[in-house]
Amino acid sequence: MAGRFVLKWLSLALFHGLCVSAQDYPLPEPCTGPACIDINGLTYQDFSVIRRESDGIYFRYSKSNETGQGLSVATAPALGGPWNYAFEILTELVNPMASDRAATNVWAPEVHFVDGTYYLFYSINTAPFNFDLCVATSPDMEPDNWTDHGSMNVPVSTTGVDQATESYVRLDGNMLADSTDPSGVDGFHYMTFGSYQWGLYGFQVSDDLLTIKDGATVDMVYLEQYNGGEYAGNKTEGPYLLTNNGYVYFFYSIGNCCAADDTSYNDSVYRVQVCRKLVTDLPTGPYLDRDGADCLNGGVDRAGTTILASRDDGQVFAPGSIGILTDPDLGMVMTYQYWNITQANQDADPKLDGLRFGYNLLSWDSDGWPMLVASS
Ligand SMILES: *[C@@H]1O[C@H](CO)[C@@H](O)[C@H](O)[C@H]1NC(C)=O
Ligand SMILES: *[C@@H]1O[C@H](CO)[C@@H](O)[C@H](O)[C@H]1NC(C)=O
Ligand SMILES: *[C@@H]1O[C@H](CO)[C@@H](O)[C@H](O)[C@H]1NC(C)=O
Ligand SMILES: *[C@@H]1O[C@H](CO)[C@@H](O)[C@H](O)[C@H]1NC(C)=O
Ligand SMILES: *[C@@H]1O[C@H](CO)[C@@H](O)[C@H](O)[C@H]1NC(C)=O
Repeated sequence: MAGRFVLKWLSLALFHGLCVSAQDYPLPEPCTGPACIDINGLTYQDFSVIRRESDGIYFRYSKSNETGQGLSVATAPALGGPWNYAFEILTELVNPMASDRAATNVWAPEVHFVDGTYYLFYSINTAPFNFDLCVATSPDMEPDNWTDHGSMNVPVSTTGVDQATESYVRLDGNMLADSTDPSGVDGFHYMTFGSYQWGLYGFQVSDDLLTIKDGATVDMVYLEQYNGGEYAGNKTEGPYLLTNNGYVYFFYSIGNCCAADDTSYNDSVYRVQVCRKLVTDLPTGPYLDRDGADCLNGGVDRAGTTILASRDDGQVFAPGSIGILTDPDLGMVMTYQYWNITQANQDADPKLDGLRFGYNLLSWDSDGWPMLVASS
């Protein structure tokens, strides 16, 4: 298998610098079981997958498959399935913002295992557009064993509430669990989040990983500028940090996440990009793309190296909302959501047959940039 990876690297390396066709993105690895596809529409966005240390069972968190009020948990014996819905969690919340439970959605779960505890970071959204970053913990991820700690106390953005002003929305939190403080301090944890307008931000997390650290500032990591109307522009969200090769990689989704039934938005449709910095640089960056452009000028310079986007054949359309895990059999893997808009699916169902769970092997080229590769 390793030999095939090398061949794939070489063939992609030949294209590097030329134009890599979208067709070169590999098809997702096979997924079996009823929880591979959300037949009801948009409700399973924001997959987060983690393998339980004690027994190797895979847990996949996503928005509720029915009510929108909790998080759905699907489980599987292997990454490829069979995936089945198991239970819902966080159907009750301690955050005071969520007092009207019927009007509160839980979004964007992200689970990390740190020092024997599972940390589930999530966002709540109270209509019309009022988000907060929250956290719950569990020793074993069993349905009754979650303790909700509520808000991480990230201050509400005070610099503005319209698109003319730099500002942030408190959603899509993701913590770098094994980060290195440039000054050499152990146990330094940094969370990125945001925003689907205005940009992506980050802050240092407290030692107990439950709140923003006392006195920490909220700093911009990615600035976007092309955000005209509801579906115009290249909005960014779902940041994800990973340390590898002496770098911190800053992944995010960019473009229209949810316009799967309107392919006229193809020039700004959802896709995944990455920038990186040396682990020894400040957590705020600068994060640079493959061409050296700073993500802080994202919207202006179109910074960001695209590593996953729609395939020409429509089998993968608008992929995004990534997570990364290391599978004992497969190695490093990237998970994501995508639509499948082949003509057969469009003829069969106006909802394009639902949002799907995808994953591919994550590999690294000789310059240390990530790339998805097919396993066969
Ligand atoms: C949603 O998930 C629950 C388990 O949490 C399952 O019983 C139910 O069948 C699922 N509904 C759909 C529409 O998939
Ligand atoms: C998890 O919850 C189950 C009941 O659902 C209980 O039997 C078990 O002791 C709990 N485990 C821990 C570590 O709290
Ligand atoms: C979004 O980004 C793509 C790729 O850089 C570009 O072609 C497109 O014009 C952008 N869309 C908007 C509305 O800025
Ligand atoms: C957008 O892309 C999809 C899939 O690649 C394709 O089927 C569709 O025709 C494209 N739409 C436009 C307006 O180019
Ligand atoms: C997309 O849908 C078509 C038609 O149902 C199916 O043959 C194909 O395997 C699907 N591909 C992916 C990657 O989901």
